[in-house]
Amino acid sequence: MNNIKACIFDLDGVIVDTAVYHYKAWKRLANELGFDFTEADNERLKGVSRMRSLEIVLQCGGITKTESEQKLLAAQKNAWYVEMINQMTPAEILPGAQEFVEACRAAGIKTALGSASKNSMTILEKLHITHLFDVIIDGNKVTKAKPDPEVFLKGAEELGIEPKYCVVFEDAIAGIEAAKAGGMKAVGIGKPDVLHEADLVVSGLDKMTLNKL
Ligand code: BG6
Ligand code: MG
Repeated sequence: MNNIKACIFDLDGVIVDTAVYHYKAWKRLANELGFDFTEADNERLKGVSRMRSLEIVLQCGGITKTESEQKLLAAQKNAWYVEMINQMTPAEILPGAQEFVEACRAAGIKTALGSASKNSMTILEKLHITHLFDVIIDGNKVTKAKPDPEVFLKGAEELGIEPKYCVVFEDAIAGIEAAKAGGMKAVGIGKPDVLHEADLVVSGLDKMTLNKL
């Protein structure tokens, strides 16, 4: 990686660990439908859109629902999820995340958020970090889910930086694939054996420094 002019950050799993709240809400929905949903099953939902997540949850329970029923179930899950994220505080920002984004900005590197979540703005506001991003692309602004590169390409375009000068920070395999499909560099947040397509993998942004870019 050299000549990096912009850093694009995924939100869930990179800046904050919302997976626990998604899990609680999906598990509650599954239980109400009469089956269990394990933490291992939850791994399959990382980086995946809300409606696709619901399909996976229903598949785990061996249940089929009509499209209108699916919309109601997704809305119910989201209402429970929103109740939980409304209680979030800046203490939940993952170690080193705020510091690294601030270091990028201080070095003149542009910053963007690239998340599948339609709740991104609420979460950023609860964490008091909305101002750290020059551009915010969330689930309301895209039509194609990761691994499609749309979310990151829109971020680069709004920043006015060519994809080859951008690096994406992602915890999901689909997100790393999206970055690569968009012609960008990718830093995986997690385990190297899982995120092997990334150019570099670190366990968290607390282990990231500008000279690794
Ligand atoms: C992603 C999460 O960031 O956002 C997924 O990793 C989630 O687990 C997706 O399903 C959509 O989130 P939301 O908040 O729009 O339901
Ligand atoms: Mg993520």
